[in-house]
Amino acid sequence: MIRAMTFGSITSEILIANKWRDYALLDSGNLQKLERFGPYRFIRPEPQALWKPRFDVSQWRADGVFIPSQKSRHREIDDCEGGGWKLSNDLPADWEITYQSLRFRARPTPFRHLGFFPEQACHWEWCAKKIRATNSTRTPDYRPRILNLFAYSGVASLHAAAAGAAVTHVDASKKAISHAFKNRNAAGLEEAPIRFITDDAMRFVEREVRRGRRYEGIIIDPPKYGRGPKGEIWRIEQDLVPLLAACRELLSETPLFVLLTVYAIRASSQAAHYALRDAMVSGEVTSGELAVAEVQENPRVIAQANYARWQPAI
Ligand SMILES: C[S@@+](CC[C@H](N)C(=O)[O-])C[C@H]1O[C@@H](n2cnc3c(N)ncnc32)[C@H](O)[C@@H]1O
Repeated sequence: MIRAMTFGSITSEILIANKWRDYALLDSGNLQKLERFGPYRFIRPEPQALWKPRFDVSQWRADGVFIPSQKSRHREIDDCEGGGWKLSNDLPADWEITYQSLRFRARPTPFRHLGFFPEQACHWEWCAKKIRATNSTRTPDYRPRILNLFAYSGVASLHAAAAGAAVTHVDASKKAISHAFKNRNAAGLEEAPIRFITDDAMRFVEREVRRGRRYEGIIIDPPKYGRGPKGEIWRIEQDLVPLLAACRELLSETPLFVLLTVYAIRASSQAAHYALRDAMVSGEVTSGELAVAEVQENPRVIAQANYARWQPAI
């Protein structure tokens, strides 16, 4: 972790996911990055890589290259915009990745990524640590209840469950839920208390508030724009603040955390910080960027997302 800047009451941090064995940022530059996911290498667009690559790009060997569409080349590169993979015939449809002792599956997706986000590893560890910290005080039949919204392929859900939580995993996409099932099985967590729910995040939270449900921890990783299963529209600019307010209602009397990650939006980590601080009233908010770093000496660091974390005052 690099402590980057303190301004007013905010200390902005860059969290670097540098404990990976099955992921590495091998080189970057010329608006691209070369990465290793398990045994396979990929070249993906990286709009932040405004610098020169360390190695000759013509020597970058890869099992897959994401080619952005002509349209996205001439506009701000965004997950929603088009393009496609050129993959080696030897690349399997999916393969095993391990982070610490947890196994899950990687695969190329139409959204430029490999089915999980390596920079989120710092979040997985932080949540797991908070959950494990309750082990010594809780009764054998009690587990912290964690709600994972926009939960996608579920790697955060699995880390929370492996740490001892009862997890409610919510995503609008049946495909994402089925990927999360595969990941649960790959992790050997078939018996873990994880509820997989295909629903609109906002509608689900509103219903949970009405039902009087409570959670000790909430993980929120919303896209910029999305749709619920019944066509409900999610727009981060208008919907995030009401969602955070509703999530506040869901916290139990012994809360552990609220974790907000924001990708693909023109906003700083301070915006996430102030939004979460306003929603939570008391407690402590920290914020910054999630990043990956090259594996060489004097690595260049690429921030991938903004985050804000809330925890009760200690
Ligand atoms: C940025 S990804 C989340 C990444 C994930 N948390 C992770 O780190 O692996 C966004 C997810 O939000 C889901 N989504 C989009 N709109 C939604 C909505 N209205 N309600 C629930 N989930 C939605 C998508 O299906 C997608 O899986």
